Amino acid sequence: MTNTDALGRENEDQAPDPARRQLLNLITFGAVTGVVGGVLYPALRFFLPPRARGGAAGVLARDELGNPISASGWLRAHKPGERSLVQGLKGDPTYLIVTGDDAIGSYGINAICTHLGCVVPWNAAAGKFICPCHGSQYDEAGQVVRGPAPLSLALAHVQVDNDQVLVSPWNETDFRDGSRPWWA
Ligand code: FES
Repeated sequence: MTNTDALGRENEDQAPDPARRQLLNLITFGAVTGVVGGVLYPALRFFLPPRARGGAAGVLARDELGNPISASGWLRAHKPGERSLVQGLKGDPTYLIVTGDDAIGSYGINAICTHLGCVVPWNAAAGKFICPCHGSQYDEAGQVVRGPAPLSLALAHVQVDNDQVLVSPWNETDFRDGSRPWWA
C-alpha cells in the first residue's frame, strides 16, 4: 500500500506487515536470550559440580590443584595398596585405592569423618583411617571400627574411561555391612 505525503511523494506504508514484524520479534528474542544466556551460563556453571566431558557418567577426579588426573599418571605415582586423595563428588576429598600395578579400585572412600567432619588421613602402618580430631577409626575399606564416629565413611563409584578417572554416586547397598547407604 502506498501513501502520499504533504509534498505529494509516494511512500510505502510505515507499519511493517505481520510476517516482517514476526521476523523482527524473533531476531530480538534471539539477541536478548543470547545475551542473557551468555551472562547466566558461566554463573550457573560455577555452582554446579564439574561434569565429565564426553557424556560419561560421573565427575572427573581432580588433583589438589583442580586438574583432572589420568589413570596412567596416577598408577605411575602410586603403589598398590595406597590410598590417596583426589577431589571427587562435590569436590569432596575422596580416596582412590590402587589395587594392583595397573588397577584403580572400583570404589572410592569419602574422607570426611562422620563424627564432626574432619578429613581422615590414611595410616598405612596401622592399615586404617584414623581421625586426628577425636580418634575415630575406620578399616581399609572405610567401615567404622571405633567411635565416636557413628557411621562408616561414604562410598563412591570409581571408573576408568579412556584414561580418565570418573567418580559417581554410590546409591546401592553398602557392600561392607549390607546396609542402605546413609549418604544416598
Ligand atoms: Fe573425626 Fe571427631 S571428627 S572423630
